[in-house]
Amino acid sequence: MMLNRHDGHLFVEDVALETLAERFGTPLYVYSRAALEAAYQRYTRAFAATPHLICYAVKANSSLAILNLFARLGAGFDIVSGGELVRVLAAGGDPGKVVFSGVGKTADEMRAALDAGIRCFNVESASELQRLNRVAGEVGKIAPVSFRVNPDVDPKTHPYISTGLKQNKFGIPIAEAPALYQLAASLPHLKITGIDCHIGSQLTDLSPLADAADRVLALVDTLARDGIALHHIDLGGGVGIRYCDETPPDLEAYGRILAERFAGRHEQLLLEPGRSLVGNAGLLLTRVEYLKPGEDKHFAIVDAAMNDLMRPALYEAYHDIVAVSLRAAPMQRYDIVGPICETGDFIGFARDMAIAEGDLLAVLSAGAYGMSMASNYNSRPRAAEILIDKNEIHLVRDRETQNAMMAGERLFC
Ligand code: LLP
Repeated sequence: MMLNRHDGHLFVEDVALETLAERFGTPLYVYSRAALEAAYQRYTRAFAATPHLICYAVKANSSLAILNLFARLGAGFDIVSGGELVRVLAAGGDPGKVVFSGVGKTADEMRAALDAGIRCFNVESASELQRLNRVAGEVGKIAPVSFRVNPDVDPKTHPYISTGLKQNKFGIPIAEAPALYQLAASLPHLKITGIDCHIGSQLTDLSPLADAADRVLALVDTLARDGIALHHIDLGGGVGIRYCDETPPDLEAYGRILAERFAGRHEQLLLEPGRSLVGNAGLLLTRVEYLKPGEDKHFAIVDAAMNDLMRPALYEAYHDIVAVSLRAAPMQRYDIVGPICETGDFIGFARDMAIAEGDLLAVLSAGAYGMSMASNYNSRPRAAEILIDKNEIHLVRDRETQNAMMAGERLFC
């Protein structure tokens, strides 16, 4: 992220985090436009040798300003719900660059996507294929189809975010793909456009990605021999990022791996990165409410909680936490926890920090799967969001109000 320190105070681009906390309150998500754009440009540079389309995985951060920024850079979008489609369209995204993933697409979602004219449906089962054919027939459209195949490679990541093994619910087994492509070719309201796979998230090793690409490309060649030609090959999500001491894979190297394999092929490469486009471009700003010394450990109770950033509670994920202003307080080891009534409500364990009550902390690498996974648990309104562009401050989402949270509810009589 475009983070820097001047006279002991932390800035995002040219704006002091203290200023933001005073003006907008905490907890507060803060993003850097320069960091978002740089992350996108890294992809376009790394894959420049291969005709490609970057379809930003909306689930990583679906805030309209972020979608709009990527739309302006020319990105397509990977969506997984009708709600994400509405957001992409509201943000000015091009429906012709939208791919629709997910194992449970409803008929309504299919209709909305057909109506918008999306690029393709990443179909994940025979039943879904039949439903899509039926719905397309009902609305008088031809649905573009790409199967999501499951290459059965181990991505070596957290089990909750690994998706390409045969025990996962995702995709169709590669061995069954030829028969399903033939079925798709025989159905009247479908048009085959491509193939897709996604093996997991936060990958820190390129070899599973290369293995998956090899298996998918071998299948594409088999399909071609059977008379099924594809326009694109979608290799799913992006590379992992650095949260702590991980060494994220070299994107240029991934670009070279795919350039070698795509040389001489006519299919367009699609990628669906989420985390690596937004993760390190955002932070969560929070204030220390109380310091609570305990017998065994000390707690720093902050005003952000698992409803704001669920990753630590859900995956025991690590996020770096830094003091916004350096001070001469005693260095102490703290568990940084939120106010929610759950032991699992923590942001970080055993962090050595020199802090006092009232201080601001920045929870780093929170741009991906932070705000998009936020909830109202404990009736906590969702945080506001700020996009920084050099010295400009854009409030891109208001802090949720209690009234907005209760809208749509009523008493019964
Ligand atoms: N494409 C598909 C079909 C996906 O399911 C995902 C992520 C992506 C692309 C984007 O992958 P990425 O480039 O972000 O690695 N909530 C978890 C991550 C769940 C990822 C789910 N699918 C977390 O906070 O770590």
